[in-house]
Amino acid sequence: MGIDVSRFTPLEETALLTLYARALDSRLPRPILGDSDADRIAASIDYDFTGLGLVTSVVCQAALRTKMLDDRVRMFTAAHPNAVVVDLGAGLDDGMSRLDGPPTVDWYSVDLPAVIALRDSVLHGNPRAHSVPRSLTDERWLEAIPAERPTMLIANGLLAFLNEQEIVSLLRRVTGHFRSGELAFNDYGRIGWVSRFAVKLAPQRMFKAVSGQWSGYPGFKDAHRPEVWNPRLQLIEETSLAHAPEVELFPTWLRMATHLAGRIPSMARKARILRYSF
Ligand SMILES: C[S@@+](CC[C@H](N)C(=O)[O-])C[C@H]1O[C@@H](n2cnc3c(N)ncnc32)[C@H](O)[C@@H]1O
Repeated sequence: MGIDVSRFTPLEETALLTLYARALDSRLPRPILGDSDADRIAASIDYDFTGLGLVTSVVCQAALRTKMLDDRVRMFTAAHPNAVVVDLGAGLDDGMSRLDGPPTVDWYSVDLPAVIALRDSVLHGNPRAHSVPRSLTDERWLEAIPAERPTMLIANGLLAFLNEQEIVSLLRRVTGHFRSGELAFNDYGRIGWVSRFAVKLAPQRMFKAVSGQWSGYPGFKDAHRPEVWNPRLQLIEETSLAHAPEVELFPTWLRMATHLAGRIPSMARKARILRYSF
């Protein structure tokens, strides 16, 4: 009998979806991320993962954006071995073990209390891995995290679940607390009716339940927009998943569709990684 998650809310359940996407990627003949630990963790949880109906494109995209964020964290921690890494909406993702970076780096994983409780029960303990069981809309999440060291913050699959005001407050709090560093996250460009409709059509029940969030968030086309929300942020990278070399690992039909999407700027923006320094 696995760990019971029947009390998870649809929002908390989204952590299981990305976990399973990584598990499925690790079983592919040519994995993009190759996180076989995700498979071990999924197996320890009593949940109908196959009922999520995860399709190949979602598996590949989730694995690729995680790999791209890993690469940016690796770069940052190589340059700053005394860094602090903060994973916002970390879910059950264990980037710290995957990257195996400098032993002097501390990792803080912030997520809702129920998700953190599950995380702490399924991940191997590491004295430099720290859990923060708080909502990111509650400013106290920052209290336990050192502010003076170079800080790399990532948000992988989080921002779709916050409205614009919550995102703006989050960005301002980050630079209000940490002295210097970088913030990298995945982004969906401008969220119009097509994106909202697509989320409503998604087979995953949890996305139907949380899709109301997107009615309060129009997204943005211009990657400089967060600089307006918070002038301490400076855009240093905008890159589309469609242009990543790992797309060559996608199955043929998806690789071709992704190459095509990569030639159309509005499509390429639908899956991008943005990185800011402060
Ligand atoms: C799609 S999952 C992604 C999880 C993880 N980053 C990954 O890649 O597997 C979104 C995560 O954001 C978390 N989340 C959503 N709203 C949050 C909030 N207000 N505060 C903290 N975490 C939140 C959810 O609990 C969930 O774990």
